[in-house]
Amino acid sequence: MPQHSTEILAATEAGIARAAQLLREGKLVSFPTETVYGLGADARQGEAVAAIYEAKGRPSFNPLIAHVHSAEAAQRYVEWNGMAETLAQAFWPGPLTLVLPLRAGHGISPLVTAGLDTLGVRVPAHPAAQALLRALDGPVAAPSANPSGKISPTTAAHVKAGLDGRIAAILDDGACGVGLESTIIGLAGPEPVLLRPGGLAAEEIEAVLGRKLAVRDVHDPLTAPGQLLSHYAPGAPVRLDAAAPAEGELYLGFGPGACDLNLSERGDLAEAAANLFGHLHRLDALGKPIAVAPIPEHGLGEAINDRLHRAAAPRD
Ligand code: TXA
Ligand code: MG
Repeated sequence: MPQHSTEILAATEAGIARAAQLLREGKLVSFPTETVYGLGADARQGEAVAAIYEAKGRPSFNPLIAHVHSAEAAQRYVEWNGMAETLAQAFWPGPLTLVLPLRAGHGISPLVTAGLDTLGVRVPAHPAAQALLRALDGPVAAPSANPSGKISPTTAAHVKAGLDGRIAAILDDGACGVGLESTIIGLAGPEPVLLRPGGLAAEEIEAVLGRKLAVRDVHDPLTAPGQLLSHYAPGAPVRLDAAAPAEGELYLGFGPGACDLNLSERGDLAEAAANLFGHLHRLDALGKPIAVAPIPEHGLGEAINDRLHRAAAPRD
């Protein structure tokens, strides 16, 4: 849904308040962090998160980082542990993202986690980002604020060049200091894993933890379980482009018509994206094969179909 003219907001009290209000209304706001400008949406509002993908023209759903104002705020959404506490004490606020198990009652849209049971959380150090997160007092999902396939933006002008007219506002507070995305550490398993090198050197993290980080080689499918993990697939077989369910199948619908669960009765792709992972989980819990209605291959439909194809791919 292309939004009309993009407001440029100064990082003043009024500008921050306006940005927080837009996020609360489910709109997209680009904001500066010390790494790169983020494209933010309220992480609790599925359709707002879907709009991120729409604005970026991103053809697949990857898990997004939830930005919060403090380690205390992070603990509303994830299960905390000793290593998380150590790293948060040492490096937050800063260019470090921690992936931790979601906690019960977290309220985060499954579109943020791409259906995983873990969440990447980060406390940015940038004063404007801090002020915005405190004004909202909620989690903000944000990838870098560039169209898919383009370079990450480190100024408001970069964001405007790529996304003008597609997002509600840009909070402009100059150039980003680090200019490189956050380092991502997985802390959901027994050992800490470097999931993405970034603005904080791995050696610094190892020094604080007093141990080596396991490294996930994203090019090696055998040692890259995160890549596989991030491709959430139901336990039961999934059949795509099904005009109707066969005997014994559950039917995930799109558009008007009888079905077990509907991605969007009004045929709206943003609503369908927001519902996708939650509905798959709910049908999966019933333990029967799933047939999925055809989804149009335009706009967000491309990303929805990408995920559905992964969900339907043969398993080992
Ligand atoms: O510096 C940054 O991290 C910037 C600013 C805006 O904060 N954000 C950013 O987001 O780089 P993005 O969407 O480009 O990168 C998010 C990456 C995903 O591609 C994925 O690799 C990883 O974070 N990620 C997020 N949640 C995850 C999870 N639950 N499990 C594994 N990886 C996760
Ligand atoms: Mg990016």
